[in-house]
Amino acid sequence: MAQVQIIYGSNSGNTQMVCKFVTAFLQEHGHEVVMTRGEHYPENQLTGHDLLILACSTYEHGELEDHFRYSFWPRIQKLDLAGQKAVVIGLGDSKYDTDYNIESGRILAKYIETHNGELIHENLMINRCPLSQLETKVQAWVASLNKKI
Ligand SMILES: Cc1cc2nc3c(=O)[nH]c(=O)nc-3n(C[C@H](O)[C@H](O)[C@H](O)COP(=O)(O)O)c2cc1C
Repeated sequence: MAQVQIIYGSNSGNTQMVCKFVTAFLQEHGHEVVMTRGEHYPENQLTGHDLLILACSTYEHGELEDHFRYSFWPRIQKLDLAGQKAVVIGLGDSKYDTDYNIESGRILAKYIETHNGELIHENLMINRCPLSQLETKVQAWVASLNKKI
């Protein structure tokens, strides 16, 4: 059983919905999962988890969602994530921006890599509304992640 911390940023609830699905799946498979919004998360507790999941949507031509971007992101820039296993979930919608579609996923993955964390699985990148993708793309991703933790 792994202890999993999900930290997420979500404006209209799509990222939250994906994170809830991932949480339920992992809990059903015996893991202990806590889901917390970025703005409510203490920056000194980013490490020490069996798995850290960072999840965020994209706004303003390739930026992180506002709450996450302004109330969480600046607080974690000086941390060292050495030894921390992590995965990333990014959301976006190409109807808003094709050049920066799901840029949040790339920003989060780059953060993990440049802060010495270990990405243990491919990013989950969700374009458009996630509702119809929960039982397909999201489930396939979390099932495959589950085999690694
Ligand atoms: C004003 C606005 C700007 C957006 N900008 C982008 C963007 O630059 N790139 C992208 O991929 N998606 C963009 N999106 C789409 C959102 O990231 C997408 O709807 C996402 O599912 C929202 O997730 P959330 O409800 O968790 O915030 C934008 C949406 C809105 C409403």
